[in-house]
Amino acid sequence: MVEDDSGLSVDTIAIDGPAASGKTTIGRLLAAKLGYQMLDTGFMYRAATLAALDAGIDVEDETAVTRLAREIELDVRDGARHGDGRLYSALLNGRDVTWQLRDPAVARNVSAVASYLGVRQALVEKQRRFGEQGKVVMVGRDIGTVVFPDARLKLYITATAEERARRRALDNQAQGHGGDVEVILADIKRRDALDSQRKHSPLLPADDAVIIDSSVITPDEIIDQIMGLLDGDGEWR
Ligand code: CDP
Repeated sequence: MVEDDSGLSVDTIAIDGPAASGKTTIGRLLAAKLGYQMLDTGFMYRAATLAALDAGIDVEDETAVTRLAREIELDVRDGARHGDGRLYSALLNGRDVTWQLRDPAVARNVSAVASYLGVRQALVEKQRRFGEQGKVVMVGRDIGTVVFPDARLKLYITATAEERARRRALDNQAQGHGGDVEVILADIKRRDALDSQRKHSPLLPADDAVIIDSSVITPDEIIDQIMGLLDGDGEWR
C-alpha cells in the first residue's frame, strides 16, 4: 500500500454497492485497465455461509458460525482458463466452490452470516491482508466505510432493483441456473434491506464516495467516467 502526504492509500480503490449492481464487473474491468488485482469480498461471506451449510451448522447459531469463519481458508485464483464465464475461481479450504457460491441456498442465508460482528472481523482481517500488497480494487459493501476508509478512490455503484434482477437472471441463465426474474428480484430486495439495516458495517456509501448509477450506462462508459478521474500521469486528480 502506498500512502500520499495526507495518509491516503493511493493504490487502493474501494467499490461498494447493493446486490448485483454491476460492481464486480466494473471492478474487474478497472483492475485490468490499471494492472491492479481485484478482490470480490462477497465471495468470502458466501464461502463462510456455504461452509456452515455443508457442516450442518444452523446459520442462526452466531457462536458456531463465527468459529467457522475464523477457521476456514479462503483463496482466489484467476478463472479465465476454465472458459465457463467465471470472473475468478473461489477456493474454500482448497476446494473450488466458484459455482456453489451462487446456489440460491447461499444467497438466502448469506445476509444472516454477514450480520455477525465476529464473522465480519475475521473476514475483514483477511481482506486487509490482501490489500496490504497494494494496487488493488476491492469490491463489497463496506470497503470504503470500514475495510479501507483511507482508499484514495471510493465508488458506490448502484442501479434500480428491477435492472439488477434482470441482469442477475441473465447471468444465471447463461450459467444454466434458474433465472426467474421475480424470484431473483425478491431475493435482491430482501438482501438489500438486511444489508442496509444491519447493526455492523451496514451497506451505505462513504461520505466521499463517487456515486454511479449503472441502470442506463454501459460498463465501458462507467470505466471511461472513472478513468476521467485520473490525470495524464496516472495519478488521481
Ligand atoms: O453478487 P451480489 O451482489 O449478489 O452479492 P455479493 O457481493 O456476493 O455479497 C453477498 C452478501 O455478502 C451480501 O448480500 C452481504 O450480505 C455480504 N457482504 C458483506 O456484508 N460485506 C461485503 N464486503 C461483501 C458482501
